[in-house]
Amino acid sequence: MSTDQETQFIFFCNGRKITDNSVDPSMMLLSYLRLKLRLTGSKLGCGEGGCGACTVMVSSYDKATKKISHISVNACLTPICQIHMMAVTTVEGIGSLKTGLHPVQERIAKSHGSQCGFCTPGIVMSMYTLLRNNHQPTMSDVEDTFQGNLCRCTGYRPILEGFRTFTKNNDFTDTEYLACNGGTQCCRSGGGINGISKTLFQPSKFTAYDPSTEIIFPPELILMLENEKPKLLRFTGEDVTWLRPTNLHQLFDIRKQFPNSKLVSGNTELGVDVNLKKVRYPILVSLTHITELNTVESCDVGVKIGASVTLSRIEEFLSNAIKKIPDHKCKSLFAIVDMLHWFAGQQIRNVASIGGNIITGSPISDLNPIFMASGCTLEVVDTEGVRRLIPIVNKFFTGYRTNSMKPNEILISVTVPYTNKSEHFKAFKQAHRRDDDIAIVNAAFRVDLQDEVIQSCSMVFGGMAPTTKLAKETMSKIIGRTWDQSLLEDTTILLADEMSLPPDAPGGMVEYRQSLVLSFFFKFYLTVRQHCSFSETILLADEMSLPPDAPGGMVEYRQSLVLSFFFKFYLTVRQHCSFSENKCINIQSVDMSATLPFKRADKRSTQMFQEIPDNQSSVDPVGRPMVHSSAYQQATGEAVYIDDIVPFQDELYMAIVFSQKAHAIINDDLMQIILVWLLDVIYMLLFFKLPARCVDATAALRMPGVYAFIDHNDVTGSNFFGELGQGEELFATVKVTCVGQYIGGIVADNKEIAQRAARMVRVEYQELEPIISIEDAIAKGSYLQPIRTLRNGNVSDGYNNSDQIIKGEIKLGEQEHFYLETQTGLALPKREDNVMEILSSCQDQRFMQARVANVLGVQFHKITVRVKRLGGGFGGKETRCWHLSAALAVAAKRVGRPVRCMLDRGEDMSSTGTRHAFLGRYKVGFTNEGKIQALEIDLYSNSGNSQDSSISVMECAMLRMQNAYYIPNVTVRGYCCKTNIPSNTAFRGFGTPQALMMTENWISDIALACGISQRKVREINMLQDGESTYCNQKVQDLYLIKRCWNECLNKSDYEMRQLQVNEFNRSNRWKKRGISIIPLSYGVGFHAKFLNQAGALVIIYTDGSVLLTHGGVEMGQGLHTKMIQVASRTLGIASNRIYTNENSTSTVPNTSQTAASVGSDLNGMAVKIACEKLCRRLEPYRNREPSKTWDDWVKAAYYDRVSLSATGFYKTPDIGYEWDTKSGEPFYYFSFGAAVSEVEIDCLTGDHMVLRTDIVMDVGDTINPAIDIGQIEGAFIQGYGLFTLEEHRWSPTGNLLTKGPGFYKLPGFTDIPVEFNVSLLDGVPNKKVVCSSKAIGEPPLCLAISVFYAIKEAIFSSRRDSGIEGSFRLDSPATAERIRMACVDKFTGKFPSATPGTFTPFFIRS
Ligand SMILES: Cc1cc2nc3c(=O)[nH]c(=O)nc-3n(C[C@H](O)[C@H](O)[C@H](O)COP(=O)(O)OP(=O)(O)OC[C@H]3O[C@@H](n4cnc5c(N)ncnc54)[C@H](O)[C@@H]3O)c2cc1C
Ligand code: FES
Ligand code: FES
Repeated sequence: MSTDQETQFIFFCNGRKITDNSVDPSMMLLSYLRLKLRLTGSKLGCGEGGCGACTVMVSSYDKATKKISHISVNACLTPICQIHMMAVTTVEGIGSLKTGLHPVQERIAKSHGSQCGFCTPGIVMSMYTLLRNNHQPTMSDVEDTFQGNLCRCTGYRPILEGFRTFTKNNDFTDTEYLACNGGTQCCRSGGGINGISKTLFQPSKFTAYDPSTEIIFPPELILMLENEKPKLLRFTGEDVTWLRPTNLHQLFDIRKQFPNSKLVSGNTELGVDVNLKKVRYPILVSLTHITELNTVESCDVGVKIGASVTLSRIEEFLSNAIKKIPDHKCKSLFAIVDMLHWFAGQQIRNVASIGGNIITGSPISDLNPIFMASGCTLEVVDTEGVRRLIPIVNKFFTGYRTNSMKPNEILISVTVPYTNKSEHFKAFKQAHRRDDDIAIVNAAFRVDLQDEVIQSCSMVFGGMAPTTKLAKETMSKIIGRTWDQSLLEDTTILLADEMSLPPDAPGGMVEYRQSLVLSFFFKFYLTVRQHCSFSETILLADEMSLPPDAPGGMVEYRQSLVLSFFFKFYLTVRQHCSFSENKCINIQSVDMSATLPFKRADKRSTQMFQEIPDNQSSVDPVGRPMVHSSAYQQATGEAVYIDDIVPFQDELYMAIVFSQKAHAIINDDLMQIILVWLLDVIYMLLFFKLPARCVDATAALRMPGVYAFIDHNDVTGSNFFGELGQGEELFATVKVTCVGQYIGGIVADNKEIAQRAARMVRVEYQELEPIISIEDAIAKGSYLQPIRTLRNGNVSDGYNNSDQIIKGEIKLGEQEHFYLETQTGLALPKREDNVMEILSSCQDQRFMQARVANVLGVQFHKITVRVKRLGGGFGGKETRCWHLSAALAVAAKRVGRPVRCMLDRGEDMSSTGTRHAFLGRYKVGFTNEGKIQALEIDLYSNSGNSQDSSISVMECAMLRMQNAYYIPNVTVRGYCCKTNIPSNTAFRGFGTPQALMMTENWISDIALACGISQRKVREINMLQDGESTYCNQKVQDLYLIKRCWNECLNKSDYEMRQLQVNEFNRSNRWKKRGISIIPLSYGVGFHAKFLNQAGALVIIYTDGSVLLTHGGVEMGQGLHTKMIQVASRTLGIASNRIYTNENSTSTVPNTSQTAASVGSDLNGMAVKIACEKLCRRLEPYRNREPSKTWDDWVKAAYYDRVSLSATGFYKTPDIGYEWDTKSGEPFYYFSFGAAVSEVEIDCLTGDHMVLRTDIVMDVGDTINPAIDIGQIEGAFIQGYGLFTLEEHRWSPTGNLLTKGPGFYKLPGFTDIPVEFNVSLLDGVPNKKVVCSSKAIGEPPLCLAISVFYAIKEAIFSSRRDSGIEGSFRLDSPATAERIRMACVDKFTGKFPSATPGTFTPFFIRS
């Protein structure tokens, strides 16, 4: 290529012109922003377009139309060269604390929509881009804009409520802002609830949004673009060259010269390959500026779409085109628009091209089934300019991601033909999550019916074969048949045969996928049937159509009225027909539910809490919804997380070399291997210093920029931690026991080099048989010790007193923490005395200090651990963070320079463990009235390859399992299964959610066995005053359970809604509803006595400002904010005089992990004690000159030589449980709550929707209602994910298959209950705890069990319609697959499960 094509790379970032003469085309925009421009507001959460943390706005100017467009994009997938001559706006560009916050930033902060803040910049930028395009969006627009954003903390409600203030018709006053769920006491119905507030923020105080003040597109850039001549761009980097032709001829030349060059449009497919699979494409050719590829137009036969046209543009074009073209021609276009709504998130749709989707040829492409069913034609051209048309239907896809295009051909366009009047068309998609998820199975159907006789048809399925698959056999056999019931019967048989899958088919879930094929066809069948009855409407619409300028105007309205009148007439006749049992139509009304999608409704919510007393001082912030202390920094991108810290000059990066095998020897010394076989323990003791000879880093070390390979030989202290036989090594020596175990690490100049070199480290594995699942471990007796047992009463007596005894089993899957910020650390070696500073995103600085010191072989005082904030923790950073920081410390010590690492999402997910999967096997005895008499239960958890906190998690599960029920005779045994998956660990609730789920399961079994409602069984077994737990702990204030329960029943209108649910279920066969209420009694405190302690250090400076430090880590839960509120109240000064900077082992030592929900209980008391000491010291000055100010008293004390710093120390009294003697009190007090949830399920697909949730929670006197309600909502949605959606899948050899947000689905914005009401119980101070409050972080997560049992109720109803009664097993999570397969019917019956053991499944659950 000639040199005149060399170009200077230019773009504008936040209004600043960036010129780069040596741009590296292998870089993505995100790295460019973070590393080169040091704009660290945009975050790396996944690198695969799945979380939205990296969202920025890209603006471009179209010279031809003079239009400026703004789109949101995932900076992690945007090649830097793609934005040449465009303007990028990041979160830093729209506002800051210095220049003033943008209203979007202000509103998310003030509405309490930012907790850990790691997702916040991305959410801000999605909303900002929406507003730039639409100043007054609707709530649906707002929800749609967030399809590609995830938040793990907030539960989304506060974000949506904050942004509701930007929407149309938002003219509520502050107090009217939210709907009310006061039930019969509703303030609107005149009931009024004294002293109850429902206003967490005041929209009237928000800065008005004025679109005219937005930053403008850089005029200089417009000028440059106006003057620019179209020319071929070329940016050459070290390994990658970027070429951007402007016409086909240039493209042909490039392709001739570089036949192996890679074409790129949106880079959403390629970018994932590059970021995750580390594929390298040396020559990239961008197709975004070739006019022919970027044009979409209507033509005679249909709509012709250029291959590079983005999905968003197609959505917009088709939505407009559909309005102008007669409906009957647009049926496939409707299907495309409809499908695009469920295709990825907006950031992806804004750049992803139609050509990219076709050429990728994914078997689960959402568009290819539609293109095939509608008979689209592809136009391709070769490098000689020879064009040809290929019908996509039959000849295009040749195999898994392959097609019939020649290597020198390029896709030019796709033409979607119009449908004709007699054609019917519909597409379907079922995914794990409704929004932003790839399909499990999708389908498109087309049928041409003349007088109800099939003239032609297409049936195409995705997810059923290596390519999108046409059901040819079935299609050919039904031509000429009438569209009637017998066709349905025959077609399901044909499809079941043609779409059958072997039991080991890739992708797994074979029975479900096969059932979906039939379900989709059934839905299509009914839709067409319904439509046939409605075909007159098409004729009417045609006959009564009006030109746009028809006299009288209101043309759309008048035309709609014609159809509406006909519809009313149709329904009247239909009703009459059904009454007279005349078969004038052949769809039963109950069947209609099969064809209807879930109703979309704007989200509604209320939050109710006790108002502060009238006489409370105005500076006392306790009880007020004070904004999170770093919300503004988080919303502006100024909050610094570890990876945002400016690199030190001599800093290096470490990439971990992980084990790729679940169980293998990595040392070829025969003797050692024999010894390993003989006794696991011995090798730990004897050989931990021997070289792992099967690990060879020679090639990696030769790479320029690589400094060292680190492994166990570099560990100067102890490489082993934990108890013999069940502890773990930092770096594997002889044997690896899970995929993701650390073998070593490469230290290099930067991340890119380190990761590339780490992949070159050769490890030879001699594989051993792994144990992956709980069932495997039980079969092999692989358990950690001790196996715990709890007994109370006598179960034999209990069974003797029982009328009925049932046995059952339930399994719960694990849950990924999915903190948005992955595990990160930075080790800073000091020059002298082996001192090292560790900056870590960890929840337990004491533990981290100890681990690092042990690994380095130094005393603890040489190691300082500092923690500023975490981008989420949820328990996952309690213990599983030590490996990374300890490895960094070893490396830093060896190279004598700072070393950093932030794990990639996939690395994090496959190495750091999860919430434990549990299996429960129970036997329960009860009376015919449902009263529990005896329970025996064996709990098994999947602990993974080491002990970590598994024993404690099991203990918590056993201690809290009884929830709010009285169980007179009980035996619980807890087995921690040792397996070959990464060690599982703490996670919000610490075993309790799993245990409570088991309990509710046998409660639901009892209800069925006795023929009474679950609610009744729960009520009659609820703990009564004076009763104890089965650990003999008296539960104080037991009446509060009943209060929560009754308020929840009342506020949710439970009884009335139960009747409505019953009525709905009678009228609908294929959609079912369920409603469920769950109580909660949650013991609070660490049952290990020593952990119940905390410290604080409060320093008053001579200007009167206060620096507050305590032992608790801020990970989004608002702990620092609450501590500031406690200090403010105790010191009697305004909260803005108090600041918390960070935690450090050198300021507050020997802390406990921030966990068990007691962060504010423990640290709050320590803070209070320290503040009280200071108050006592200042008291003489205050008394002496009461009219003076705080600042004066402080100064006076200083000059009087009074110490102005104080420590506080607190230990919880009367707590601690001894397992050996089964004595002591495991909990300090109990937290109570109740939740009602109502759901609707689609019995044919297993999809579900939460219609409403009402929660009543006892938090004592709330310190901060916004934080407490935020914790309740966030925990509930995390629990909702646990019980309905989130699921890990493993290969039988122990590889995690669900490694990123693409495969592991968290709840998104649209998954939250349509109506979500939270009330804090009022007037219930808890005198035992600081400010009379109660713990809140974990308990509400368990309330999401209500959704699971509402789903189970709905399934019961479906099964009853199929004539099946009695209990059935529903494991958790209640995924779409499980719901569908539990709704047994004529379709699922066609696919019996293969016998286990006769095949190797594609995946297993642990
Ligand atoms: C987070 C996320 C969510 C997603 N969700 C979905 C989803 O819900 N449904 C779904 O179907 N897909 C989904 N995808 C897949 C992907 O986004 C789509 O396949 C997208 O349409 C690809 O378009 P692109 O322009 O980004 O392709 P690119 O990545 O630019 O290219 C993809 C391939 O097509 C080739 N190519 C592109 N244009 C041409 C051409 N004109 N001629 C010849 N070859 C060409 C490229 O060389 C490359 O091999 C998702 C991807 C991500 C990252
Ligand atoms: S980091 Fe880009 S989408 Fe997650
Ligand atoms: S605030 Fe959204 S991930 Fe933490």
